[in-house]
Amino acid sequence: MNDTPLLTLDLSHASTLDLGAVEAEVRRARETLETGTGPGAGMRGWLDLPRRQPPAEIARIRALAERIRGLDALVVVGIGGSYLGAAAVMGALADPFEAGFPVLFAGHHLDAGYYAALARRLAGKRYAVNVISKSGGTTEPSVAFRLLWNDLSSRFGAADLARLVVATTGARPSGLKRFQEEHGLEMLEVPEDVGGRFSVLSPVGLLPIAAAGCDVDALLDGAREAMELLRDPGRRDLASNPALAYAAFRLAAYRAGKKIEVLASSTPRLELLAEWWKQLYGESEGKGGKGLFPAAMSLTTDLHSLGQWMQDGERIVCETALDVVEDAPLAVPRIAGDIDGLSYLDGVPIHHVDRTAMHATLAAHADGGVPALRMELPRIDARAIGWLLYFFEYACGVSAYALGVNPFDQPGVEAYKKNMKAMLAK
Ligand code: PA5
Repeated sequence: MNDTPLLTLDLSHASTLDLGAVEAEVRRARETLETGTGPGAGMRGWLDLPRRQPPAEIARIRALAERIRGLDALVVVGIGGSYLGAAAVMGALADPFEAGFPVLFAGHHLDAGYYAALARRLAGKRYAVNVISKSGGTTEPSVAFRLLWNDLSSRFGAADLARLVVATTGARPSGLKRFQEEHGLEMLEVPEDVGGRFSVLSPVGLLPIAAAGCDVDALLDGAREAMELLRDPGRRDLASNPALAYAAFRLAAYRAGKKIEVLASSTPRLELLAEWWKQLYGESEGKGGKGLFPAAMSLTTDLHSLGQWMQDGERIVCETALDVVEDAPLAVPRIAGDIDGLSYLDGVPIHHVDRTAMHATLAAHADGGVPALRMELPRIDARAIGWLLYFFEYACGVSAYALGVNPFDQPGVEAYKKNMKAMLAK
């Protein structure tokens, strides 16, 4: 195990918050999570995911991914926790301009225009579908899967279909499970004790991530290192355990009247990770009339958009910033003369300018009444992202218990489904 966290926290812009006042609660919440004495305790299987998956299962996922990469594309069908983790990792690790192996997403909404365009994109192509639904009966992915299945089955026979479609689902009987059995499709099982938003390191995330060409071993290694460090029983105070410090920051901010937490990242490569984080914290904590609303901002882009509100709007917000230490060694180039007035930056690494903008922003926000926590990531690679994913999951479990809610259910999500079904049945 590597004993150095791949993430370090800087709380110097959070001095208005009293973290000491909530430390005991956070430590108790961690005990609740670790001992399985809180509500939803049966859904803590994700805690061990980085070391619990048998090597044979990982090898099977890798082999399926290789087979898929020999096709024209992969369509990942899923919504919420069934696609956001994979999207987050791909967004962070994929080259933004390199075409690479096409991984397309579907089933994460009901936009007919998108599906018409997807059908045009896939016309005549030999593509794979990974349909992901733990419950096996969610409307959005079921609709998208019907479209894709009808397209593939109009062009390929049963033997081909069984090789083109992989169902990632729970073991319980469901519409998708029946479909998988009836057509003899490959199946990857979503563990019963792992909920969607905690499933990125299970087959739910790993197959699409491997198919995209990302380094699954390094991702799991990073997650394993985080698991060993954050769950170390000796690391039980805020100074030695960054997950506890983050949970304390959130609780102290909430108690100080903050209603929104903005996750600010310094690169568009982390925008999808912020989407994943929003779901993780929003669905885990927003219940019983409680919880910080998770929002996201991309720096420096959104300084020209949301920056005014952050600095000067309602003082109900706290901020968590993802600050990447190392990046491409590209410098601001010199030009002849100083026509654009930018010569003071001649030869300065662009990443240094970017980080300075973030540090200046956090200081200004803190002065303006926005307590901020800066999280330093050494770099963006598979290992660091694996570490970060596990960190956010673990801190979320602690944070939700400290808030006094069950981190692992989502009763509020049912309300729209009930209404929609009733309206469509009319
Ligand atoms: O975190 C969760 O449990 C949810 O966001 C689910 O992932 C989402 O509702 C999709 O559910 P399912 O995988 O059953 O289709």
